[in-house]
Amino acid sequence: MNVAILGAAGRMGQTLLRFAAQLPDCEVVAAVERADLPCIGGPVKLDGLPDGLAYTAEWPDVADTVIDFSFHATVPASIAKAAERGQVYVLGTTGLTDEEQGAVRKAAEKIPVVWSSNMSPGVNLLLELVRRSAATLGVDYDIEITEAHHRLKKDAPSGTAIMLAQAAAAGRGVELRDVACYGREGIVGERPVGEIGIHAIRGGSVVGDHTVMFMANEERVELTHKAGDRSVFAKGAFAAAAWLQGRAAGLYSMRHVLGFEEVRG
Ligand SMILES: NC(=O)c1ccc[n+]([C@@H]2O[C@H](COP(=O)([O-])OP(=O)(O)OC[C@H]3O[C@@H](n4cnc5c(N)ncnc54)[C@H](O)[C@@H]3O)[C@@H](O)[C@H]2O)c1
Repeated sequence: MNVAILGAAGRMGQTLLRFAAQLPDCEVVAAVERADLPCIGGPVKLDGLPDGLAYTAEWPDVADTVIDFSFHATVPASIAKAAERGQVYVLGTTGLTDEEQGAVRKAAEKIPVVWSSNMSPGVNLLLELVRRSAATLGVDYDIEITEAHHRLKKDAPSGTAIMLAQAAAAGRGVELRDVACYGREGIVGERPVGEIGIHAIRGGSVVGDHTVMFMANEERVELTHKAGDRSVFAKGAFAAAAWLQGRAAGLYSMRHVLGFEEVRG
């Protein structure tokens, strides 16, 4: 596959470029960045990458596959261009507004898209465990979710924390928007039954920690995932890209890529 990486100069972009250099059936044909960055036109200096690869702000028509780890506000325009050109799309960027999410769904009517706020196998397994735990334990167990990330992360709470909260809500058969509590401050009163609390911690270079707590009067269950290296997300993103080749248009998740859920229809 011929891959374009959007957000190539970022933390994930650099990890993706490094990871791609080890893959035999994958060529990075474009390293796309914002037009106003000084690196535009300059080389991507990473071991093992093809000679002559330079950062570009142009849309990569040469690519058959786009991997996007950039910024939420740029996603609608990027995915619309990919849909016009029939390019396969892996979307890892988080923090999308409802409107931006609508643009992803619209594009997925024309092209196959894997969209996940977390491409790691461990977190996708954790989603299953959380859904099942929430269903099994019931509302006697208060659910609180904490996430910790490096100080440069732009959105909060993390897309993964939101996915975990959605999995917990689904396990209880409720809508997250009806039960979510994003942080607490002041005289907030007693905790309502069934509330799902979500809390973001920022600092240092933490790649990504998530814990889901189920707290009853007599016991507490805690499910934790800690990402040690961004390459776990890069590995998942390229697995998603390979899985998408030759697929019908539609919106897929890492659950499909990892075989946790069958593709319908
Ligand atoms: N799905 C996952 O598994 C996963 C894992 C880690 C990070 N993320 C998400 O990926 C995104 C990037 O994370 P990061 O830590 O690399 O951030 P980062 O800020 O280091 O990198 C983002 C890059 O995108 C670039 N960018 C912005 N607008 C652009 C545009 N229009 N075209 C091309 N590039 C553009 C920025 O210049 C920057 O270099 C975030 O939304 C983050 O939450 C997802």
